[in-house]
Amino acid sequence: MSEFRTQLHQLADWVADYMENIEQYPVLSNVAPKHIYNQLPPAMPIQAESLQNILRDMEQIIMPGITHWQHPAFHAYFPANSSEPSVLAELITAAIGAQCMVWQTSPAAAELEQRVMEWLRDAMGLPRTWEGVIQDTASSATLCAILTAREQALNQEIMPNKAGSTTQFAVYCSTETHSSIEKAVKIAGIGVNKLRKVATDELFALSPIALEAAIVRDLRDGIKPLCVIATIGTTGTTAIDPLPQIGEICRQHNIWLHIDAAYAGVAAILPEQKHILYGVEYADSFVTNPHKWLFTNFDCSAYYVKNKQALLRTFEIMPEYLKTDADQQVNNYRDWGIALGRRFRALKLWFVLRSYGLENLQRKLREHIQLAQLFAVEIQKTNEYEILAPIHFNLVCFRHRPADIQNNETALNEHNVKLMQRINQSGKAFLSHTKLNGKYTIRAVFGQTNVSEQQVWNLLALLKESADMG
Ligand SMILES: Cc1ncc(COP(=O)(O)O)c(C=O)c1O
Repeated sequence: MSEFRTQLHQLADWVADYMENIEQYPVLSNVAPKHIYNQLPPAMPIQAESLQNILRDMEQIIMPGITHWQHPAFHAYFPANSSEPSVLAELITAAIGAQCMVWQTSPAAAELEQRVMEWLRDAMGLPRTWEGVIQDTASSATLCAILTAREQALNQEIMPNKAGSTTQFAVYCSTETHSSIEKAVKIAGIGVNKLRKVATDELFALSPIALEAAIVRDLRDGIKPLCVIATIGTTGTTAIDPLPQIGEICRQHNIWLHIDAAYAGVAAILPEQKHILYGVEYADSFVTNPHKWLFTNFDCSAYYVKNKQALLRTFEIMPEYLKTDADQQVNNYRDWGIALGRRFRALKLWFVLRSYGLENLQRKLREHIQLAQLFAVEIQKTNEYEILAPIHFNLVCFRHRPADIQNNETALNEHNVKLMQRINQSGKAFLSHTKLNGKYTIRAVFGQTNVSEQQVWNLLALLKESADMG
Protein backbone atom coordinates (compact mmCIF):
# COMPACT_ATOMS: atom_id res chain seq x y z
CA MET A 1 0.00 0.00 0.00
CA SER A 2 1.26 3.45 -0.79
CA GLU A 3 1.70 5.77 2.15
CA PHE A 4 -1.20 7.91 0.96
CA ARG A 5 -3.53 4.90 0.82
CA THR A 6 -2.56 3.98 4.37
CA GLN A 7 -3.17 7.52 5.53
CA LEU A 8 -6.49 7.62 3.78
CA HIS A 9 -7.59 4.47 5.61
CA GLN A 10 -6.37 5.95 8.85
CA LEU A 11 -8.34 9.13 8.25
CA ALA A 12 -11.40 7.17 7.17
CA ASP A 13 -11.30 5.60 10.62
CA TRP A 14 -10.78 9.00 12.22
CA VAL A 15 -13.84 10.39 10.45
CA ALA A 16 -16.00 7.36 11.22
CA ASP A 17 -14.91 7.40 14.89
CA TYR A 18 -15.62 11.12 15.13
CA MET A 19 -19.08 10.77 13.68
CA GLU A 20 -19.89 7.71 15.80
CA ASN A 21 -18.64 9.24 19.05
CA ILE A 22 -19.60 12.84 18.55
CA GLU A 23 -21.82 12.86 21.61
CA GLN A 24 -18.76 12.47 23.79
CA TYR A 25 -17.64 15.99 22.92
CA PRO A 26 -19.03 19.14 24.56
CA VAL A 27 -21.32 20.67 21.91
CA LEU A 28 -19.97 24.18 22.36
CA SER A 29 -16.25 24.81 22.57
CA ASN A 30 -15.52 26.73 25.73
CA VAL A 31 -11.93 27.74 25.00
CA ALA A 32 -10.86 31.27 25.88
CA PRO A 33 -10.03 33.71 23.07
CA LYS A 34 -6.49 33.17 21.67
CA HIS A 35 -6.18 29.80 23.41
CA ILE A 36 -5.76 27.99 20.08
CA TYR A 37 -3.79 30.75 18.38
CA ASN A 38 -1.18 30.88 21.13
CA GLN A 39 -0.51 27.16 20.84
CA LEU A 40 0.34 27.45 17.17
CA PRO A 41 3.90 28.34 16.15
CA PRO A 42 4.34 31.88 14.78
CA ALA A 43 5.97 30.71 11.54
CA MET A 44 5.24 27.89 9.14
CA PRO A 45 7.45 24.78 9.34
CA ILE A 46 10.56 24.76 7.19
CA GLN A 47 10.83 20.98 7.11
CA ALA A 48 8.10 18.52 6.21
CA GLU A 49 6.11 17.16 9.14
CA SER A 50 4.57 13.73 9.46
CA LEU A 51 0.83 13.17 9.30
CA GLN A 52 1.18 11.54 12.69
CA ASN A 53 2.37 14.83 14.21
CA ILE A 54 -0.27 16.83 12.44
CA LEU A 55 -2.99 14.49 13.68
CA ARG A 56 -1.60 14.64 17.20
CA ASP A 57 -1.96 18.44 17.15
CA MET A 58 -5.35 18.09 15.55
CA GLU A 59 -6.49 16.13 18.60
CA GLN A 60 -4.68 18.20 21.20
CA ILE A 61 -4.91 21.74 19.84
CA ILE A 62 -7.66 21.92 17.25
CA MET A 63 -10.41 19.63 18.55
CA PRO A 64 -10.85 21.48 21.88
CA GLY A 65 -11.61 24.57 19.81
CA ILE A 66 -14.29 22.93 17.70
CA THR A 67 -17.99 23.56 18.25
CA HIS A 68 -19.67 20.38 17.12
CA TRP A 69 -22.33 21.36 14.62
CA GLN A 70 -23.09 17.71 13.90
CA HIS A 71 -23.75 16.92 17.58
CA PRO A 72 -27.42 15.96 17.93
CA ALA A 73 -27.76 18.39 20.87
CA PHE A 74 -26.76 21.31 18.64
CA HIS A 75 -29.98 23.33 18.92
CA ALA A 76 -28.50 26.78 18.26
CA TYR A 77 -28.95 29.20 15.32
CA PHE A 78 -30.09 27.05 12.43
CA PRO A 79 -28.27 23.78 11.84
CA ALA A 80 -25.70 23.27 9.10
CA ASN A 81 -26.46 19.60 9.00
CA SER A 82 -24.32 17.08 7.17
CA SER A 83 -24.66 13.38 6.51
CA GLU A 84 -22.65 10.33 5.61
CA PRO A 85 -23.30 10.54 1.84
CA SER A 86 -22.36 14.21 1.89
CA VAL A 87 -19.06 13.51 3.66
CA LEU A 88 -18.23 10.74 1.20
CA ALA A 89 -18.95 13.01 -1.75
CA GLU A 90 -16.75 15.76 -0.29
CA LEU A 91 -13.88 13.31 -0.20
CA ILE A 92 -14.29 12.62 -3.90
CA THR A 93 -14.69 16.32 -4.64
CA ALA A 94 -11.40 17.02 -2.92
CA ALA A 95 -9.67 14.20 -4.78
CA ILE A 96 -10.94 15.33 -8.17
CA GLY A 97 -10.13 18.92 -7.26
CA ALA A 98 -12.00 20.32 -10.23
CA GLN A 99 -12.46 24.04 -10.62
CA CYS A 100 -15.85 24.19 -12.26
CA MET A 101 -15.88 27.72 -13.66
CA VAL A 102 -17.09 26.82 -17.17
CA TRP A 103 -18.69 23.78 -18.73
CA GLN A 104 -15.45 22.71 -20.40
CA THR A 105 -13.51 22.66 -17.13
CA SER A 106 -15.67 19.69 -16.10
CA PRO A 107 -18.77 19.07 -18.22
CA ALA A 108 -20.11 16.58 -15.66
CA ALA A 109 -20.00 19.18 -12.91
CA ALA A 110 -22.02 21.68 -14.94
CA GLU A 111 -24.54 19.14 -16.17
CA LEU A 112 -24.95 17.46 -12.80
CA GLU A 113 -25.53 20.87 -11.24
CA GLN A 114 -28.22 21.63 -13.79
CA ARG A 115 -29.91 18.29 -13.15
CA VAL A 116 -29.83 18.32 -9.34
CA MET A 117 -31.11 21.88 -9.29
CA GLU A 118 -34.05 20.66 -11.38
CA TRP A 119 -34.63 17.71 -9.04
CA LEU A 120 -34.69 19.97 -6.01
CA ARG A 121 -36.84 22.60 -7.73
CA ASP A 122 -39.43 19.96 -8.65
CA ALA A 123 -39.32 18.29 -5.26
CA MET A 124 -40.10 21.63 -3.61
CA GLY A 125 -42.71 22.49 -6.22
CA LEU A 126 -41.14 25.69 -7.53
CA PRO A 127 -42.27 26.75 -11.02
CA ARG A 128 -40.75 24.37 -13.57
CA THR A 129 -39.57 27.18 -15.82
CA TRP A 130 -37.19 28.47 -13.13
CA GLU A 131 -33.51 27.62 -13.38
CA GLY A 132 -31.11 27.06 -10.57
CA VAL A 133 -27.46 27.45 -9.70
CA ILE A 134 -25.54 26.42 -6.60
CA GLN A 135 -24.05 29.37 -4.75
CA ASP A 136 -21.79 29.23 -1.72
CA THR A 137 -24.27 30.92 0.61
CA ALA A 138 -27.65 32.56 0.75
CA SER A 139 -25.80 35.82 1.42
CA SER A 140 -24.16 35.63 -2.01
CA ALA A 141 -27.43 34.62 -3.66
CA THR A 142 -29.22 37.62 -2.16
CA LEU A 143 -26.44 39.93 -3.31
CA CYS A 144 -26.83 38.45 -6.81
CA ALA A 145 -30.58 39.11 -6.65
CA ILE A 146 -30.13 42.76 -5.69
CA LEU A 147 -27.46 43.34 -8.33
CA THR A 148 -29.62 41.68 -10.98
CA ALA A 149 -32.64 43.72 -9.95
CA ARG A 150 -30.62 46.90 -10.29
CA GLU A 151 -29.20 45.90 -13.66
CA GLN A 152 -32.67 45.14 -14.92
CA ALA A 153 -34.11 48.38 -13.57
CA LEU A 154 -31.36 50.42 -15.21
CA ASN A 155 -31.71 48.62 -18.54
CA GLN A 156 -35.40 49.12 -18.61
CA GLU A 157 -35.54 52.74 -17.64
CA ILE A 158 -32.33 54.51 -18.12
CA MET A 159 -29.40 54.08 -20.45
CA PRO A 160 -27.18 51.41 -18.88
CA ASN A 161 -23.86 52.50 -17.42
CA LYS A 162 -24.75 56.15 -17.70
CA ALA A 163 -27.51 57.49 -15.59
CA GLY A 164 -27.45 54.58 -13.15
CA SER A 165 -25.53 56.38 -10.49
CA THR A 166 -28.05 59.19 -10.35
CA THR A 167 -30.96 56.87 -9.61
CA GLN A 168 -31.71 56.43 -5.95
CA PHE A 169 -33.00 52.96 -5.18
CA ALA A 170 -34.67 51.55 -2.09
CA VAL A 171 -34.81 47.93 -0.94
CA TYR A 172 -37.51 46.58 1.39
CA CYS A 173 -37.49 43.81 3.93
CA SER A 174 -38.94 43.32 7.40
CA THR A 175 -37.45 44.12 10.78
CA GLU A 176 -37.03 40.33 11.20
CA THR A 177 -35.00 39.86 8.02
CA HIS A 178 -31.55 38.28 8.17
CA SER A 179 -28.54 40.58 8.38
CA SER A 180 -27.27 39.30 5.01
CA ILE A 181 -29.84 41.55 3.33
CA GLU A 182 -28.40 44.67 4.94
CA LYS A 183 -24.93 43.48 3.99
CA ALA A 184 -25.96 42.94 0.36
CA VAL A 185 -27.50 46.41 0.20
CA LYS A 186 -24.29 47.83 1.63
CA ILE A 187 -22.02 45.95 -0.79
CA ALA A 188 -24.22 46.81 -3.78
CA GLY A 189 -23.78 50.50 -2.96
CA ILE A 190 -27.51 51.09 -2.63
CA GLY A 191 -26.86 52.70 0.75
CA VAL A 192 -27.93 51.17 4.03
CA ASN A 193 -30.07 54.27 4.59
CA LYS A 194 -32.15 53.10 1.59
CA LEU A 195 -32.97 49.78 3.22
CA ARG A 196 -36.51 49.99 4.53
CA LYS A 197 -37.05 47.62 7.42
CA VAL A 198 -40.79 47.33 7.34
CA ALA A 199 -42.81 46.53 10.48
CA THR A 200 -44.08 43.04 11.14
CA ASP A 201 -47.41 41.84 12.46
CA GLU A 202 -47.94 40.06 15.78
CA LEU A 203 -46.70 36.82 14.18
CA PHE A 204 -43.39 38.47 13.14
CA ALA A 205 -44.28 38.37 9.44
CA LEU A 206 -43.83 41.39 7.18
CA SER A 207 -46.89 43.63 7.09
CA PRO A 208 -48.04 44.25 3.48
CA ILE A 209 -49.78 47.45 4.58
CA ALA A 210 -46.54 48.83 6.03
CA LEU A 211 -44.71 47.71 2.88
CA GLU A 212 -47.09 49.51 0.57
CA ALA A 213 -46.85 52.65 2.72
CA ALA A 214 -43.05 52.60 2.58
CA ILE A 215 -43.11 52.17 -1.20
CA VAL A 216 -45.57 55.01 -1.67
CA ARG A 217 -43.41 57.28 0.52
CA ASP A 218 -40.33 56.52 -1.57
CA LEU A 219 -42.12 57.09 -4.85
CA ARG A 220 -43.34 60.43 -3.54
CA ASP A 221 -39.74 61.34 -2.66
CA GLY A 222 -38.39 60.37 -6.09
CA ILE A 223 -36.72 57.16 -4.86
CA LYS A 224 -37.15 54.08 -7.03
CA PRO A 225 -38.36 50.94 -5.22
CA LEU A 226 -35.94 48.29 -6.48
CA CYS A 227 -36.40 45.04 -4.63
CA VAL A 228 -38.47 43.48 -1.88
CA ILE A 229 -37.01 40.62 0.10
CA ALA A 230 -39.63 38.35 1.59
CA THR A 231 -38.58 35.62 3.97
CA ILE A 232 -39.92 32.13 4.37
CA GLY A 233 -38.60 31.12 7.78
CA THR A 234 -37.06 34.18 9.42
CA THR A 235 -33.94 33.64 11.48
CA GLY A 236 -35.48 34.71 14.77
CA THR A 237 -38.74 32.77 14.72
CA THR A 238 -39.16 31.09 11.25
CA ALA A 239 -41.99 33.49 10.43
CA ILE A 240 -43.41 33.32 6.93
CA ASP A 241 -43.98 36.60 5.12
CA PRO A 242 -47.30 36.70 3.20
CA LEU A 243 -46.12 36.11 -0.37
CA PRO A 244 -49.41 36.58 -2.25
CA GLN A 245 -49.98 40.09 -0.86
CA ILE A 246 -46.31 41.06 -1.13
CA GLY A 247 -46.16 39.62 -4.65
CA GLU A 248 -49.18 41.62 -5.74
CA ILE A 249 -47.62 44.85 -4.43
CA CYS A 250 -44.40 44.04 -6.30
CA ARG A 251 -46.30 43.31 -9.48
CA GLN A 252 -48.24 46.56 -9.31
CA HIS A 253 -45.11 48.64 -8.78
CA ASN A 254 -42.83 46.56 -11.00
CA ILE A 255 -40.47 45.69 -8.15
CA TRP A 256 -38.12 42.69 -8.07
CA LEU A 257 -39.24 40.11 -5.51
CA HIS A 258 -36.52 37.98 -3.95
CA ILE A 259 -37.45 35.24 -1.52
CA ASP A 260 -35.03 34.38 1.23
CA ALA A 261 -36.02 30.85 2.21
CA ALA A 262 -32.46 30.04 3.28
CA TYR A 263 -33.52 27.80 6.11
CA ALA A 264 -37.11 26.74 5.71
CA GLY A 265 -37.50 26.59 1.92
CA VAL A 266 -36.47 22.94 1.79
CA ALA A 267 -39.49 22.09 3.96
CA ALA A 268 -41.54 22.52 0.77
CA ILE A 269 -40.49 18.97 -0.17
CA LEU A 270 -43.18 17.92 2.33
CA PRO A 271 -46.68 17.77 0.84
CA GLU A 272 -48.11 19.15 4.09
CA GLN A 273 -45.77 22.17 3.93
CA LYS A 274 -46.40 23.16 0.31
CA HIS A 275 -48.47 26.10 1.54
CA ILE A 276 -45.25 27.94 2.49
CA LEU A 277 -44.68 28.51 -1.23
CA TYR A 278 -48.15 29.86 -1.83
CA GLY A 279 -47.60 32.95 -3.99
CA VAL A 280 -44.04 32.00 -4.97
CA GLU A 281 -44.81 32.47 -8.66
CA TYR A 282 -44.69 36.24 -8.08
CA ALA A 283 -40.99 35.98 -7.22
CA ASP A 284 -38.10 36.79 -9.52
CA SER A 285 -35.55 34.89 -7.44
CA PHE A 286 -35.49 32.44 -4.57
CA VAL A 287 -32.82 30.94 -2.35
CA THR A 288 -32.80 27.96 -0.03
CA ASN A 289 -29.87 26.21 1.61
CA PRO A 290 -29.47 22.44 1.44
CA HIS A 291 -26.48 23.18 3.71
CA LYS A 292 -28.81 24.17 6.50
CA TRP A 293 -31.59 21.60 6.66
CA LEU A 294 -31.05 19.09 3.86
CA PHE A 295 -28.08 17.06 5.10
CA THR A 296 -25.60 18.50 2.62
CA ASN A 297 -22.54 19.81 4.36
CA PHE A 298 -21.68 23.48 4.11
CA ASP A 299 -21.54 25.03 1.51
CA CYS A 300 -24.45 24.44 -0.82
CA SER A 301 -27.02 27.15 -1.42
CA ALA A 302 -29.66 26.66 -4.12
CA TYR A 303 -30.47 29.87 -5.98
CA TYR A 304 -33.35 29.91 -8.48
CA VAL A 305 -34.30 32.59 -10.95
CA LYS A 306 -37.32 33.19 -13.12
CA ASN A 307 -35.37 34.92 -15.87
CA LYS A 308 -31.97 33.42 -16.50
CA GLN A 309 -31.10 36.11 -19.03
CA ALA A 310 -31.41 38.88 -16.44
CA LEU A 311 -28.93 37.03 -14.23
CA LEU A 312 -26.50 36.42 -17.09
CA ARG A 313 -26.68 40.01 -18.29
CA THR A 314 -25.59 41.07 -14.82
CA PHE A 315 -22.67 38.71 -14.35
CA GLU A 316 -21.55 37.63 -17.81
CA ILE A 317 -18.08 38.54 -18.85
CA MET A 318 -16.43 37.05 -21.89
CA PRO A 319 -12.65 37.31 -22.01
CA GLU A 320 -11.08 35.62 -24.99
CA TYR A 321 -9.37 32.91 -22.93
CA LEU A 322 -12.67 31.67 -21.49
CA LYS A 323 -14.56 31.34 -24.81
CA THR A 324 -15.35 27.79 -25.91
CA ASP A 325 -17.21 26.20 -28.81
CA ALA A 326 -19.89 24.86 -26.48
CA ASP A 327 -20.90 28.24 -25.04
CA GLN A 328 -24.24 28.42 -26.85
CA GLN A 329 -25.41 24.99 -25.69
CA VAL A 330 -24.34 24.74 -22.09
CA ASN A 331 -24.45 26.49 -18.74
CA ASN A 332 -21.23 28.25 -17.84
CA TYR A 333 -21.92 28.82 -14.19
CA ARG A 334 -19.19 31.42 -13.81
CA ASP A 335 -21.78 33.77 -15.36
CA TRP A 336 -24.45 32.90 -12.79
CA GLY A 337 -22.83 34.55 -9.80
CA ILE A 338 -19.99 36.62 -8.44
CA ALA A 339 -16.94 34.34 -8.38
CA LEU A 340 -15.21 32.92 -11.43
CA GLY A 341 -13.87 29.84 -9.67
CA ARG A 342 -16.40 27.35 -8.39
CA ARG A 343 -16.28 24.19 -6.31
CA PHE A 344 -17.94 20.99 -7.50
CA ARG A 345 -20.80 21.35 -5.01
CA ALA A 346 -23.39 19.47 -7.04
CA LEU A 347 -21.71 16.16 -6.28
CA LYS A 348 -22.53 16.13 -2.57
CA LEU A 349 -26.10 17.20 -3.20
CA TRP A 350 -26.43 14.40 -5.76
CA PHE A 351 -25.05 11.88 -3.25
CA VAL A 352 -27.48 13.11 -0.61
CA LEU A 353 -30.57 13.19 -2.81
CA ARG A 354 -29.84 9.71 -4.14
CA SER A 355 -28.76 8.12 -0.88
CA TYR A 356 -31.82 9.29 1.02
CA GLY A 357 -34.39 9.49 -1.75
CA LEU A 358 -37.24 11.94 -1.43
CA GLU A 359 -39.16 9.67 0.95
CA ASN A 360 -36.42 9.54 3.56
CA LEU A 361 -35.69 13.24 3.30
CA GLN A 362 -39.36 13.90 3.93
CA ARG A 363 -39.37 11.47 6.85
CA LYS A 364 -36.38 13.21 8.45
CA LEU A 365 -37.83 16.71 8.13
CA ARG A 366 -41.16 15.49 9.45
CA GLU A 367 -39.42 13.92 12.44
CA HIS A 368 -37.63 17.19 13.18
CA ILE A 369 -40.90 19.11 13.07
CA GLN A 370 -42.51 16.56 15.40
CA LEU A 371 -39.62 16.83 17.87
CA ALA A 372 -40.16 20.58 18.10
CA GLN A 373 -43.84 19.99 18.72
CA LEU A 374 -43.09 17.44 21.42
CA PHE A 375 -40.67 19.83 23.11
CA ALA A 376 -43.23 22.63 23.00
CA VAL A 377 -45.96 20.44 24.49
CA GLU A 378 -43.67 19.23 27.27
CA ILE A 379 -42.40 22.64 28.36
CA GLN A 380 -45.93 23.99 28.47
CA LYS A 381 -47.04 21.19 30.78
CA THR A 382 -45.00 22.73 33.58
CA ASN A 383 -46.71 26.14 33.37
CA GLU A 384 -43.29 27.68 33.94
CA TYR A 385 -42.44 28.30 30.31
CA GLU A 386 -43.86 30.65 27.75
CA ILE A 387 -43.81 30.02 24.01
CA LEU A 388 -43.06 33.35 22.36
CA ALA A 389 -43.66 32.71 18.66
CA PRO A 390 -45.71 30.39 16.47
CA ILE A 391 -43.97 27.09 15.67
CA HIS A 392 -44.00 26.69 11.90
CA PHE A 393 -41.21 24.16 11.52
CA ASN A 394 -38.68 22.79 13.99
CA LEU A 395 -37.80 25.89 16.00
CA VAL A 396 -39.28 26.66 19.40
CA CYS A 397 -38.90 30.19 20.79
CA PHE A 398 -39.49 30.25 24.52
CA ARG A 399 -38.49 31.60 27.89
CA HIS A 400 -38.56 30.34 31.42
CA ARG A 401 -41.03 32.30 33.51
CA PRO A 402 -40.80 31.30 37.15
CA ALA A 403 -43.69 32.41 39.34
CA ASP A 404 -41.68 34.71 41.62
CA ILE A 405 -40.53 36.99 38.78
CA GLN A 406 -43.21 36.36 36.18
CA ASN A 407 -44.23 40.02 35.89
CA ASN A 408 -40.77 41.54 36.08
CA GLU A 409 -39.48 41.84 32.51
CA THR A 410 -35.98 42.92 33.48
CA ALA A 411 -35.59 40.06 35.93
CA LEU A 412 -37.00 37.60 33.38
CA ASN A 413 -34.49 38.72 30.78
CA GLU A 414 -31.58 38.39 33.19
CA HIS A 415 -32.83 35.02 34.39
CA ASN A 416 -33.08 33.63 30.85
CA VAL A 417 -29.65 34.93 29.87
CA LYS A 418 -28.19 33.04 32.82
CA LEU A 419 -30.25 29.95 32.14
CA MET A 420 -29.02 29.72 28.58
CA GLN A 421 -25.43 30.43 29.55
CA ARG A 422 -25.52 27.64 32.11
CA ILE A 423 -26.80 25.17 29.54
CA ASN A 424 -24.27 26.17 26.92
CA GLN A 425 -21.39 26.05 29.37
CA SER A 426 -22.42 22.55 30.46
CA GLY A 427 -21.42 21.30 27.00
CA LYS A 428 -24.51 19.08 26.99
CA ALA A 429 -26.51 21.21 24.57
CA PHE A 430 -26.10 24.41 22.61
CA LEU A 431 -28.90 26.96 22.37
CA SER A 432 -29.00 30.47 20.95
CA HIS A 433 -31.29 33.41 21.49
CA THR A 434 -33.11 36.32 19.94
CA LYS A 435 -35.12 39.24 21.32
CA LEU A 436 -38.84 39.41 20.62
CA ASN A 437 -40.70 42.55 21.67
CA GLY A 438 -37.92 43.23 24.14
CA LYS A 439 -38.13 39.74 25.63
CA TYR A 440 -34.97 37.66 25.80
CA THR A 441 -36.02 34.58 23.89
CA ILE A 442 -34.29 31.21 23.89
CA ARG A 443 -34.35 29.39 20.58
CA ALA A 444 -34.20 25.59 20.38
CA VAL A 445 -33.94 24.08 16.90
CA PHE A 446 -34.36 20.35 16.35
CA GLY A 447 -32.68 20.01 12.99
CA GLN A 448 -29.41 18.21 13.43
CA THR A 449 -29.22 15.13 11.20
CA ASN A 450 -29.24 12.63 14.07
CA VAL A 451 -31.38 14.47 16.57
CA SER A 452 -33.95 12.18 18.17
CA GLU A 453 -36.53 12.14 20.92
CA GLN A 454 -33.71 11.49 23.36
CA GLN A 455 -32.42 15.04 22.82
CA VAL A 456 -35.85 16.44 23.65
CA TRP A 457 -35.89 14.63 27.00
CA ASN A 458 -32.25 15.55 27.64
CA LEU A 459 -32.92 19.21 26.95
CA LEU A 460 -36.00 19.22 29.18
CA ALA A 461 -33.99 17.69 32.01
CA LEU A 462 -31.15 20.12 31.46
CA LEU A 463 -33.52 23.08 31.50
CA LYS A 464 -35.04 21.91 34.75
CA GLU A 465 -31.67 21.31 36.35
CA SER A 466 -30.33 24.70 35.19
CA ALA A 467 -33.51 26.58 36.12
CA ASP A 468 -33.47 25.05 39.62
CA MET A 469 -30.02 26.58 40.12
CA GLY A 470 -31.74 29.97 40.29
C1 LIG B 1 -33.27 33.57 6.80
C2 LIG B 1 -31.80 33.53 6.55
N1 LIG B 1 -31.30 34.09 5.45
C3 LIG B 1 -29.98 34.09 5.17
C4 LIG B 1 -29.09 33.47 6.01
C5 LIG B 1 -27.63 33.48 5.66
O1 LIG B 1 -27.28 32.22 5.16
P1 LIG B 1 -25.82 31.96 4.59
O2 LIG B 1 -24.96 31.65 5.75
O3 LIG B 1 -25.99 30.80 3.65
O4 LIG B 1 -25.39 33.20 3.88
C6 LIG B 1 -29.55 32.87 7.19
C7 LIG B 1 -28.63 32.22 8.12
O5 LIG B 1 -28.97 31.65 9.10
C8 LIG B 1 -30.94 32.89 7.46
O6 LIG B 1 -31.43 32.35 8.58
